[in-house]
Amino acid sequence: MRALVIGSGGREHAIVRALLRSVHAPEVLCAPGNAGIAADAECLPEIAADDVEAIVGLAGGRRVDLVVVGPEIALVAGVVDALEEAGIPAFGPSAAAAELEGSKAFAKELMRDAGVPTAGYVLLHSREEAVAEIARASYPAVLKADGLAGGKGVILCAGEAEALAAVDVFFTERRFGATTVVLEEFLEGEELSLLAICDGDNVVALAPAQDYKRIFDGDEGPNTGGMGSYSPVPGFGPAEVEEIVESVHRPIVAAMARRGIPFHGVLYAGLMIGADGAKVLEFNARFGDPETQAVLPRLRSDLIDIFLAARETGGLAGTSAEFDPDWAVTLVLASAGYPESSSSGDPIRGLEAAAELAEVTHAGTAKRDGEIVTAGGRVLNVTALGASPAEARDRAYDAAGRISFEGMQIRTDIAARAVERVPS
Ligand code: AMP
Ligand code: GLY
Repeated sequence: MRALVIGSGGREHAIVRALLRSVHAPEVLCAPGNAGIAADAECLPEIAADDVEAIVGLAGGRRVDLVVVGPEIALVAGVVDALEEAGIPAFGPSAAAAELEGSKAFAKELMRDAGVPTAGYVLLHSREEAVAEIARASYPAVLKADGLAGGKGVILCAGEAEALAAVDVFFTERRFGATTVVLEEFLEGEELSLLAICDGDNVVALAPAQDYKRIFDGDEGPNTGGMGSYSPVPGFGPAEVEEIVESVHRPIVAAMARRGIPFHGVLYAGLMIGADGAKVLEFNARFGDPETQAVLPRLRSDLIDIFLAARETGGLAGTSAEFDPDWAVTLVLASAGYPESSSSGDPIRGLEAAAELAEVTHAGTAKRDGEIVTAGGRVLNVTALGASPAEARDRAYDAAGRISFEGMQIRTDIAARAVERVPS
């Protein structure tokens, strides 16, 4: 068995490691990969994640049995469609199905059709329309660019003045290249990420996770790709997870199938849990980063069996994903300047010492003269397991404390909420 993982982040490193634990004992390739993944898999740094032709050529040439696509740009570029057309098994949604993530307007319309709870909204297509709707809206409100914006095209507006400023960002500066903007109701509550593997019909929930989007402690500062995560989440046992899957994931998968766009792959629901239940903030059509780094180390089921089954409609019937009862806490170590910028080329120390305590996965790293150096905003992830949230959290921070590089940023409050709620 030979598997190929597309992508180069901490998420892909966690996927590579989970594949290596499979009973199928695969040889694993990764394109493009990174300096840490290279220790576990053969990396092809010259192949970009959205270079469809090169990926199909590689997978065909190396007789790959399964391709797993990590990042959304690859999905939206149609990597899965092209691979399957070439007769190469690929896990992930088609480009058409990935619109669930690629277009917020599409996702909102689908949720309305499927009766899935989400924030009330209007679509804005021009500056004039936006100004008129902003005068009518109630605040706080949220403005979102329609299209992929790496988690950054969302502006929370306390009042009308901020909303008007946001309209300039979207329609005058065209900062996120969107022609449509979503104006939606501000939801209060606590965020939850519930990822599920779908086969076009059936939905297999993964363990719930919580991620930390802001750069600073106490959820202050700008949004990032994610600064830490933990799994499971207190208060979200099997019954609560099933309730969410029944009200969110299954109706969406059914609505996609009715439209002739069956969803195969990871359906990631970003949820706000408020006083009146779970409402969808967004859908992603892929594994979350850094949720995956906390979820997959707990997975007991065979990931390759699940991925292969998800390609066939009905393939996951009667399947569930089993998880260790242990808690997992993932910390993100980011470079100076992140998220506005990032620094690179700084030597990283203490990786081996950290790996004695926890699992270290790489995101933005590179090898220079035999030394691992920083090469991006989010540099490393440290994931520790423990019998309680406190044990996992302490171990993760002990391990991260052994790592150092110039300007390293780390939040100190990851999973603190879980520790408060679950006495050890
Ligand atoms: P999104 O990319 O749509 O998930 O938005 C990024 C982040 O912005 C979310 O994780 C939330 O923290 C916040 N956010 C988005 N939409 C809303 C909303 N309607 N109400 C409150 N916060 C929101
Ligand atoms: N953790 C957020 C994301 O993967 O989009």
